Amino acid sequence: MKILHISDTHIGGARYFDKKALEHVVKESKKGSYDLLIHSGDVTQEGKKRHYENADKILFSRLEIPYVVIPGNHDKRSGGIALYKEHIGSPNGVLELEDSVIVHVDSGVQDSDMGRVGMIKFDMMRNALRKYHKKSIKVVVLHHHTIPVPMAGRERNVLSNAGDLLDLFLKFDVDLVLSGHRHYPNVYHIDGTVFVNAGTASGKKTRYGDANSYNVIHVDEKRLSVETRRISGEKDVDKKEYPRHEQRIFFDFGKRVFRIIHVSNTFISTSNIFKRRHFFNAQDIINSLKGDLLIHCGGIVKDGIPKDYDLAQKYMKEFDLPVVYSPAGRDINYLGYDLYEDHFGDIDQDFTADDVYIKGISSAQYDTPEGIIGEVQRERLFYQLNQRDESFKCIFLHHNVLPIPHAREKGLLEDSGDFLREAVDEQVELILTGTSSHPFAAQVGKTVVVNANSLSSIYQRSLFGNSFNVIDVYEKVLVVSEISSLWGTRRTLGIWERNNQSEQ
Ligand SMILES: [Fe+2]
Ligand SMILES: [Fe+2]
Repeated sequence: MKILHISDTHIGGARYFDKKALEHVVKESKKGSYDLLIHSGDVTQEGKKRHYENADKILFSRLEIPYVVIPGNHDKRSGGIALYKEHIGSPNGVLELEDSVIVHVDSGVQDSDMGRVGMIKFDMMRNALRKYHKKSIKVVVLHHHTIPVPMAGRERNVLSNAGDLLDLFLKFDVDLVLSGHRHYPNVYHIDGTVFVNAGTASGKKTRYGDANSYNVIHVDEKRLSVETRRISGEKDVDKKEYPRHEQRIFFDFGKRVFRIIHVSNTFISTSNIFKRRHFFNAQDIINSLKGDLLIHCGGIVKDGIPKDYDLAQKYMKEFDLPVVYSPAGRDINYLGYDLYEDHFGDIDQDFTADDVYIKGISSAQYDTPEGIIGEVQRERLFYQLNQRDESFKCIFLHHNVLPIPHAREKGLLEDSGDFLREAVDEQVELILTGTSSHPFAAQVGKTVVVNANSLSSIYQRSLFGNSFNVIDVYEKVLVVSEISSLWGTRRTLGIWERNNQSEQ
């Protein structure tokens, strides 16, 4: 199957729209022997009648291959969605094409740039993926991206239920998720699913000085490749290729080299939102697990007040393994910034052992749950990591870098797009986070990203109850498990091949 993936054509006035670039795409659709064209939204600049008429005249009426289109936020401006239906058709649907299925959903919100897939559409997607799960190629198309995109500024406030969607796509082994919206091409391979963001095909608002572009996607039985072609010149081509139906059975883990206990949101305090029994049960279990290091990803105390800090220091001392911390907003509110240093040490902590380097980075800010690392800190962090010779490198912080199921995007790091891209490109092996109180783990490229649930507060979102994670680093694989704080029962969140394996 060969797909021509375009996005964000922004058909409108000459200030926003480059007609020549679109002509190039139309020509490409004729000569490239494609099976299908997919347009992932923002067909028009402002959703006006003359823009839709123009879209039909210069794009859709000239296509000689089947196509799938969804609306973007721009198409839904000024009541544009009604015109979309008149000119283009249903904004949602399922297309069966031989052994493939394309589920396409309108993720826009009228007169807003935000993205959301409401419950009805979410169920429609789930039902379609269930019905067609045997199809050999499963494609989902949404305008807004699910995974943070680099060079796109603020990452939050985009697809509000991105975590649930990510979970859905991974559970149903979707092969391809196609999006646009950010006008910057980007590709991630996450647990066998390829997430593709297209640049803008003919809009004049490009990012990072990039040219207009489109994607050429090839899928066969064994491989899936994504090629980003710039309209300005065919020389400038990025091509990424991934195996399909990867073997994910591991026979040989090798020796265990390191065990991390990963906890978050303990909320230690005298308040009854802190569950003492869960905390002390978990402490006994953790002490029996003989880990090498406990990483606390923030939310140590309920509030940054002396009473909570004194209690937290007393309770945390009862762990009989080394502990490193990274703060959440609540840890540094009130007097917390100073109390934190008095009771637990530096804001950014690290840990070294043999071939292991673990680095904390603060994403917390005063009096707000929002998180950001910032450009200066990010540059410094990756510079420091590059200076290290250890083969296993891990970064830990409070805020999420991937969207988390059962949570809105609130906990997502503001600069997660740039941070995640750099961490994956630098092949950081592990990123640990601790917001949104829901356990979750996935591998992005060769980087395993793990979020922890709340260890001991009433605010937790796992049906398994309060829990913590154990990350076992073996010579050949990483094993991530969730362990119930109260009962000590264990379930595996994932097993992934270590990134040192591919080079051998
Ligand atoms: Fe756009
Ligand atoms: Fe958009």
